[in-house]
Amino acid sequence: MTESREKQGATGLNPDTDAAPSVPAGEPDEHQRLYRLLAENAREMVSRHTADLTFLYASPAAERVIGYPSAHLIGQRLDDLVHPDDLSSVLSTFALARDTREDSSTVFRCRAPDQRWRWCEVVCRGVLDQASGTEEIHATIRDVTRYKQIEQAIERVAKEWRGTFDSAQDAILMLDRRANVIRVNISTLRLLECDFRDLIGKPLAEVTRQRLKMDDPFHVRRVWSGSSQVRTDLELENKSIWLRSTVDPIMAENGRLEGAVVFIANITTEKQAEIRLLKTLDEVRELSSHLQTVREEERRSIAREVHDELGHTLTALKMDIAWLVKHIPDNDGEIRTRGAELTGMVDQTIASMRKIVSRLRPPVLDDLGLDAALEWLTSDFQRYSGVETEIALADLPNRFRGARASCIFRIVQEALTNVSKHAAASRVEIRGGVQGNSYRLVVQDDGKGFEFRSEAHRTGFGLLGIGERVRELEGTMEMHTSPGEGASLVITFPEAAIR
Ligand SMILES: Nc1ncnc2c1ncn2[C@@H]1O[C@H](COP(=O)(O)OP(=O)(O)O)[C@@H](O)[C@H]1O
Ligand SMILES: [Mg+2]
Repeated sequence: MTESREKQGATGLNPDTDAAPSVPAGEPDEHQRLYRLLAENAREMVSRHTADLTFLYASPAAERVIGYPSAHLIGQRLDDLVHPDDLSSVLSTFALARDTREDSSTVFRCRAPDQRWRWCEVVCRGVLDQASGTEEIHATIRDVTRYKQIEQAIERVAKEWRGTFDSAQDAILMLDRRANVIRVNISTLRLLECDFRDLIGKPLAEVTRQRLKMDDPFHVRRVWSGSSQVRTDLELENKSIWLRSTVDPIMAENGRLEGAVVFIANITTEKQAEIRLLKTLDEVRELSSHLQTVREEERRSIAREVHDELGHTLTALKMDIAWLVKHIPDNDGEIRTRGAELTGMVDQTIASMRKIVSRLRPPVLDDLGLDAALEWLTSDFQRYSGVETEIALADLPNRFRGARASCIFRIVQEALTNVSKHAAASRVEIRGGVQGNSYRLVVQDDGKGFEFRSEAHRTGFGLLGIGERVRELEGTMEMHTSPGEGASLVITFPEAAIR
């Protein structure tokens, strides 16, 4: 055996006397020649080994596949080139091939001359050389480094993906095309308080019925009927837990639904914060509405007090001064002049007091109603601002009485104040009328307009206050304006709000 190996070692090729692998003795020479031709020219490396893996033959492809010229390999043992971690697998594969005389294969790392490891796949089979009566193992070896690299990359990605999947805070369930659960992560088990076995392979509907006492809480059926993402917020009964689920369909290339992924996030904290915020907002609105009422009341009482107290005193003062002036001797010119001046001052004071009182609380609003109060407001506005002011309120609903009338009055008052303060307008129109099912009130100026963004105009409280008042009356407010285009405040009250 050793001898014949040495003989062959000289060339690394089978001497003609040697039977070609797998070819039984007695076959024509032509077959042996063809077989060798095939082995010599194959892309894969072909080799023959003794039972202890010593190379008897290696085809020229050896140089390309494992890096050694075939002559170098003859007499060497394959296991000397195998990575220690793969050795036992290679040995058992060759042993199996020898014992069973059937194909046996494995993948192993082979040390190349540059000491680097190349991934190789070997397929081997035990063969009895009938000529010499010796057992051999014939093998084909190919370089699978490239495949191995791809496989390793896929494994790495899969591992990363599994890591993310398992460590995700959100519960994630994957469904097959019949909406059966095929994979879940740890968070799912925590959320549904169960084990993998309770979920895998079961229809999701059954799982949610059992675990959440709900039939289709995540609206998975809608995904199956519409094939697009469905998002749902739901509250778990008597657990005070809020969940947000997102179900994403998985589509096959032919456009058919392959399954779906369900993401479930616990949004209890956000939801509670949202609920608290909405409640606070409601409270703030109530408070603001209450403050408006209180303010209105206070204005009214200050107006009354100023009118009554100051008014009476001033009137008395005026009468007393008139009496005094009447009793000044005719020849005392200077005192008379002073007296006349004093009367004039008291008259002026009374006039200013009246003005203050009416601005605080236009008496017409209480006495004659909103229509008259707005007429008074606009003529007063025109007088002091110099802006031409027109008012045309058709069908002003007589429902706007009491507090509601005050609301409308203050809205128009603030709108006009803005026109005089910011618009540099020459004209402003206040129009109102029924339009369809609603009442529309418009305050439109021809001033310089402005860039209206609701959040950006929070510097002042005027528009905010208008908004609040409008909301109180169940109406909506819009501001139509842009720089250079004037401004138009449009308030709409639905029919229900004015009836
Ligand atoms: N009719 C208008 N013409 C031009 N700018 C306006 C008009 N009304 C409001 N504005 C702009 O909107 C801002 C916010 O108004 P507002 O909330 O009433 O607050 P304030 O009047 O106290 O500034 C004003 O500062 C002004 O820049
Ligand atoms: Mg203002």
